[in-house]
Amino acid sequence: MLFLLMTDAIFMGQTNTINHESPGKFQEARFEKIHNLSYSSATESSKLVANEIAHLIKTTVDRKFVLGLATGSSPIDVYKELVWLHQNENLSFKNVVTFNLDEYYPISPKEAQSYHHFMRVHLFDHIDIPKDQINIPKGNLTPDEIRDYCKMYENKIASLGGLDYQLLGIGRTAHIGFNEPGSHRNSVTRLVTLDPLTLNDAAKDFNGVEKVPKKAITMGINTIMNAKRIVLLAWGSHKASVVAKTIEGPISEVAPASFLQEHPNVTFILDKEASSDLTRINTPWLVLDCEWTEVLTKKAVFWLCKRVSKSILKLTPRDYSENGLSGLINTYGSVYDLNIWMFNQVQKTITGWPGGKPKFSDENRPERANPSSKRSLIFSPHPVDDIISMGGTISRLIEQGHQVHIAYQTSGSRGVSNEHALRYIEVYLQIEPDQLNFQQLKNEILNTKEGHIDSVALRELKGFIRVSESLESARLLNLPKENVHFLNLPFYENGITKKK
Ligand code: F6R
Repeated sequence: MLFLLMTDAIFMGQTNTINHESPGKFQEARFEKIHNLSYSSATESSKLVANEIAHLIKTTVDRKFVLGLATGSSPIDVYKELVWLHQNENLSFKNVVTFNLDEYYPISPKEAQSYHHFMRVHLFDHIDIPKDQINIPKGNLTPDEIRDYCKMYENKIASLGGLDYQLLGIGRTAHIGFNEPGSHRNSVTRLVTLDPLTLNDAAKDFNGVEKVPKKAITMGINTIMNAKRIVLLAWGSHKASVVAKTIEGPISEVAPASFLQEHPNVTFILDKEASSDLTRINTPWLVLDCEWTEVLTKKAVFWLCKRVSKSILKLTPRDYSENGLSGLINTYGSVYDLNIWMFNQVQKTITGWPGGKPKFSDENRPERANPSSKRSLIFSPHPVDDIISMGGTISRLIEQGHQVHIAYQTSGSRGVSNEHALRYIEVYLQIEPDQLNFQQLKNEILNTKEGHIDSVALRELKGFIRVSESLESARLLNLPKENVHFLNLPFYENGITKKK
């Protein structure tokens, strides 16, 4: 309770908070079973979390403060802020003992993808925590060491009086730590097999799903649930559905994070995107009386179409009233008028003239009445993003006489696989068998080991491959070569997954 009061003191007064004390707002949150706060920015809310941790560290004086830590993208800003507090506000970690949730297995602590490496880079190398107070599950044990090691990890946490604070992220499988669906409520630290979805999510860090370790050592659900205070961080729309399921759904092993509903002192810290599937945000008409703005009306009608699997013009008064939308009909007068209005809204977004139609009055369409030839500049993060996401539109713009330019922001070298590059190298070596540089590149590819970072020459070659592919699509589109621009912005060119 003390923790909760302290937390409220830190988090209250921020924008967008749900105040569970206020009966009006409580009605909106009636489907929610976990205390959650939603903020516009992950960076700002991470500062609040770091402040909470700092406050607890400073006020724990008679014993060690036992801090459970997570890895992954979610806690990075919290660690950044803790480092800042250490460097600028004298926050000391000398009295802190940390326990990380998990580590891949098998993996060496030296690998760039290991959680040992992650923790050094993001936190431990920059603070004054004594090395012997850091605990991260070992990923390089022999199979017969694992059982005893996991027992030791559990006992060590317990011997310090349990975790005072556990920081969590959440995976798209609803895992916390690496407790994948099927994990038992009473599970403790152990070796687990990772879910295929988790392996896929980790593939970008390991340069391919086949290189991701298939197992991990993780604290159990029970280990986590015994923490005195738990804060879970989730950012981004890709977390929205799992966050809603965890907060509003039933408690079940299928969604291990849902066990947190039973914890007496847990808060989810979310950004707008991650909270966007909560009922009060996604479908507010199901929990409160709405003010029917145009945007909300469109959202509601789309939602209803999906819900009842009907197209707009087939929606009936009963569909609206049975699905909590009778208030909307009252505002619009009749379902007939509402359906037609909505249909017209959608219809107006469709055009075969993305740059506008010359000599045609299009006052009611999303384009100017007398459009002239335009210069359009298409920014594409990687070569290919343009064609994949708007190839048809680019083609139309060119056909209809606009001046189209495409600017590729990065070389896209990371998108070219070794196999793909090898094909080009081998063609070249057939023409010039003694070309030493190409022979070296071939050797580099054939001897690639886990965690290998491409040499500058290999990255350059891969970049050239992307350039030639982009020029090929420009040719197919009849786009002059001079209108294709390769910016080669530098933040990508370090050969590793983490971008500058
Ligand atoms: C990491 C961990 C995982 C992550 C989760 C979310 O130590 O235990 O549960 O928190 O996979 O990962 P991100 O934050 O990268 O989305």
